[in-house]
Amino acid sequence: MATQIEDLLKRRILMVSGKGGVGKTTLTALIAREAADAGKRVLALDIDKELDAPSALLEMLCGKRQFTSDEPYEISSHLHCARLSPRVGQHDFLRDHIPVGMLASAATRSTQLNRFLMAAPGFQETGIIYRLLKFLRREIAKGKPSYEFILVDLPATGHALALTSLPQPLLTVFPSGPIERTIRESQGYFNDPEQTGCLIVTLPEPLPVNETFELAAGLRRDKVPIAGILVNRLPEEHLSRGEISELSQFFKEHPGEVIGEWSLSRLSRAGQAMELLVEKLAQQPEDVPVYRVPALLERMEVKESVDALMGQVEHLSASALAEWTGGEA
Ligand SMILES: Nc1ncnc2c1ncn2[C@@H]1O[C@H](COP(=O)(O)OP(=O)(O)O)[C@@H](O)[C@H]1O
Ligand SMILES: [Mg+2]
Repeated sequence: MATQIEDLLKRRILMVSGKGGVGKTTLTALIAREAADAGKRVLALDIDKELDAPSALLEMLCGKRQFTSDEPYEISSHLHCARLSPRVGQHDFLRDHIPVGMLASAATRSTQLNRFLMAAPGFQETGIIYRLLKFLRREIAKGKPSYEFILVDLPATGHALALTSLPQPLLTVFPSGPIERTIRESQGYFNDPEQTGCLIVTLPEPLPVNETFELAAGLRRDKVPIAGILVNRLPEEHLSRGEISELSQFFKEHPGEVIGEWSLSRLSRAGQAMELLVEKLAQQPEDVPVYRVPALLERMEVKESVDALMGQVEHLSASALAEWTGGEA
């Protein structure tokens, strides 16, 4: 199956968010590799307070478990992976804005000041955003960015909104100065649909689908453009309501005699979740593209699962979506 993700690669920044466990990291790794294969210079980023905490993203991309440096790790000429750690960003921020470099390193080393900074509202996020800005600004030559396509694997829905909702209140606290300039520069990227998009990953289950639209509402409030919704592990086949109830009846009449009851309940839940998704999509103020990725049936190592999913992201047309909404298949 040909990959259909050109639209996901056309911006500078793709943030990947969604509920825990839905497949954000897998999809970030997958799209990063596809973009690199398509010839873009790609930087895949994850977020963690500690630089040396295990990185599922790095592992999915190359099998290595943790970062040993805050410089991007080169996986191939077109694919790098790094961590957005707030501390490194805060240190860079202070070093860039306090004239004497020494002062900044002394300042971020001092535990007391560190505690104060980490507790200051928004300073963690400022560190993350500043680090991202530094990667965006990097060039291999004049006017030629080091990274043409930057993906950010956001840890969870709440964290995504903590980042995107940060700028406005911070601007009230810092109406001018370096923090204000950092915020304005980041808003220039994050609020521009040509530069940034957020891909919301979900499973075909009612709970994550509901959370998807809560996140979409939050992003819209923060003026972060939505690049699409990706339904991970969507079954290939779908049954009409009639078929589902006939099959359920059949299973009821033959308890324990046939296998497939579990698959049927999974399909039936996927159907309900997709109905909910289509209903909610219709209520959105703009068109939101929907993508799907199939479920791998075999259990495999994380890196192998990314290999197995290469080329399998599919765009779901309105008619393909309509087939899931309880009509006849
Ligand atoms: N399409 C898929 N088919 C099968 N397994 C998947 C699929 N997508 C993700 N997984 C597996 O699900 C688990 C959670 O995925 P992960 O990407 O770590 O989620 P998240 O980052 O949202 O917490 C991992 O073990 C991953 O290999
Ligand atoms: Mg993850």
